[in-house]
Amino acid sequence: MIQSQSIAVETTLQKKAKPPQDGLGFGIHFTDHMFILDYSVEQEWHNPRIVPYQPIVLDPAAKVFHYGQTIFEGLKAYKTADGRIRLFRPRDNFARMNRSNDRMSVPELDIDTAITALERLIEVDADWVPTEPGTSLYIRPYVFATQATLGVAPSENYQFIIIMSPVGAYYPEGMNPVKIYVESDYVRAMVGGVGEAKTAGNYAAALKSQQIAKEQGYTQVLWLDGAEHKYIEEVGSMNVFFKIGGKVITPALNGSILAGITRNSVLQLLKHWGISVEERRLSIDEIYEAAEQGLLEEAFGTGTAAVISPIGEVNWGGQKLVIGEGRTGELTNKLYDTLTGIQYGTVEDPFGWTREV
Ligand code: COI
Repeated sequence: MIQSQSIAVETTLQKKAKPPQDGLGFGIHFTDHMFILDYSVEQEWHNPRIVPYQPIVLDPAAKVFHYGQTIFEGLKAYKTADGRIRLFRPRDNFARMNRSNDRMSVPELDIDTAITALERLIEVDADWVPTEPGTSLYIRPYVFATQATLGVAPSENYQFIIIMSPVGAYYPEGMNPVKIYVESDYVRAMVGGVGEAKTAGNYAAALKSQQIAKEQGYTQVLWLDGAEHKYIEEVGSMNVFFKIGGKVITPALNGSILAGITRNSVLQLLKHWGISVEERRLSIDEIYEAAEQGLLEEAFGTGTAAVISPIGEVNWGGQKLVIGEGRTGELTNKLYDTLTGIQYGTVEDPFGWTREV
């Protein structure tokens, strides 16, 4: 494990002006510093340092450009009303990063080292954690292959970097329901592939459908399973939940769906409240049938960036389905308020999810 005192810190002499908090958007502004850690076969993870936020220099042959050996994570830091900074389930993010690393043949990173590095970086850039309601500091840790050779083999060199961005809502709709386009032709991932890993290619594979969806007025794409194009998987930037006849149903993790930390938090909250939840295969047909029978009550997505996002409309092959009259449901609102309350410290955290920096 790398100790906090062994992280070299070079602070910037030119601090950037802070953007206004009412128009932060998502991932547009970046803080003054970044964390970097190198990997080589001989030295393993070494040379931890915090440096001014700056471009990185890579050899044009670096394997990441050619074979996509790269993983990222997303988590957030929140400022409480009395000025404390808290992280939400950071250990779970770095544990998931290691599962993605394993799938993509990237060396494991010590979780305590990653948390120590992140907390040191947050201390250096503490004045970047926004304070307005609905804002937070989005943290993007990522690792990528830097070895400059073109043979197809796991890289022998990597860099692990953490950058941070003050953010508002991910979707332009804010807390208003999003409209979702169901993709029936293209596939995001297949069981046995890399769908469960948070690797760049999964997101690149989704862009074409996202463009098509956007042209038709939809914010996001709902992916179906790769084999039968029948079962609901995820939205790409969030996991999805449907409330049908009093029960909450979400697709079971099957290897091609991202194991969302917000998804897991919502499942724990629902169980804590005694609400019946099912993690299972869920076909898109079942959603339309439930709607016909008047049983489809609410739908929402979950994610670090998306938080809890109500889904107001689904379009599957031209059949439009308006959910909950296009308004945010009661349970969706309760989940949003409780989860963000725990994150900002206004609601008790019975699960021990938050960690003070
Ligand atoms: C996150 O919620 O952190 C994600 O990784 C989604 C992202 C692709 C915006």
